[in-house]
Amino acid sequence: MSFIEARNLRKTYTPKGADPVHALDGLDLDVPEGTITAILGPNGAGKTTAVKVLTTLIVPDSGTASIGGINVLERPEAIRPIIGVSGQYAAVDENLTGFENLDMVGRLYHLGAKASRARARELIDLFELSEAQNRPVKGFSGGMRRRIDLAGALVTRPSVLFLDEPTTGLDPRSRLGMWDIIRSLVDGGTTVLLTTQYLEEADQLADDISVIDTGKVIAKGTADELKASVGGQRVELNLVTAEDTAETVEILRRFGTAEPAVSNDSRTVTVSVESGPEALQLVLAELSAREVALFDAGMRRPTLDDVFLSLTGHVATEEPEEETANVGGRAKAGKPA
Ligand SMILES: Nc1ncnc2c1ncn2[C@@H]1O[C@H](COP(=O)(O)OP(=O)(O)O)[C@@H](O)[C@H]1O
Ligand SMILES: [Mg+2]
Repeated sequence: MSFIEARNLRKTYTPKGADPVHALDGLDLDVPEGTITAILGPNGAGKTTAVKVLTTLIVPDSGTASIGGINVLERPEAIRPIIGVSGQYAAVDENLTGFENLDMVGRLYHLGAKASRARARELIDLFELSEAQNRPVKGFSGGMRRRIDLAGALVTRPSVLFLDEPTTGLDPRSRLGMWDIIRSLVDGGTTVLLTTQYLEEADQLADDISVIDTGKVIAKGTADELKASVGGQRVELNLVTAEDTAETVEILRRFGTAEPAVSNDSRTVTVSVESGPEALQLVLAELSAREVALFDAGMRRPTLDDVFLSLTGHVATEEPEEETANVGGRAKAGKPA
């Protein structure tokens, strides 16, 4: 049995006057102890719903889930003390300072006044928030807000951590900082279930990836396994002019093992091939004979983007999602800076 295990989770929402939405449609998950698993999926795939079920915030229509052998649905009160949650709906009080927020979490969990303050100080140091500790959270940048939110989830030293899109909307530098923190937590033995829309984030952080779409797992494996599953190499061409796109597609079609993909601006055409070097030479000879001008041409291994495209027929969207209101209705989480 995996440390975090979900079987056949189903959750349907039926908004008034609208069609039912199958947010979870038979979802299975397995996260081994001490590892990090990513749920990778586009907006609306069911990631947050899955996290909410596993963290006891909502009850599924059917299915089972357990963490460390404890049944999530039958014994939610035994689950809550061992888990930490950080994410889109996490509660940070905007009017309290960074320090006060962490201190408050400790007191809510009955750590006692002295231990709560000590733990808050420790986390402020760990997350390098010392200049911000005495300022109200409402003045925090998006990156600082995420750090204080994650710090809040760590107050009780949970052995299991749920991170719901921890870097969505963050600038690249804050994202790298967050990745470092997450890696160090896993190195320290924490079991992490992370959701993300970013293929690169799953690739960087996760031991194992479950790709989900419309509430179910559509592929599963390590990043390398997923890339290998879409096979072979890619020949990629950058055209000088989009006028040559149709002709190039026609040529690539003859050498590829699947239909060539064309970028939005029509200037990049990619096809999967069996042998990269051989295909590239043949393609270049043909293009040269037809006087198609190239900016660039090369071979590359499949990326997770290719995996997603081949599984779903559409590219993964990477637009930041708007932050939603938090639990308890205390303060509204602002849009990440
Ligand atoms: N409380 C709710 N009421 C109605 N529909 C919901 C509710 N929560 C989620 N959904 C719908 O369920 C689907 C999955 O949502 P969610 O789990 O939030 O996806 P993700 O986190 O992957 O973006 C979406 O279509 C969403 O609109
Ligand atoms: Mg979500």
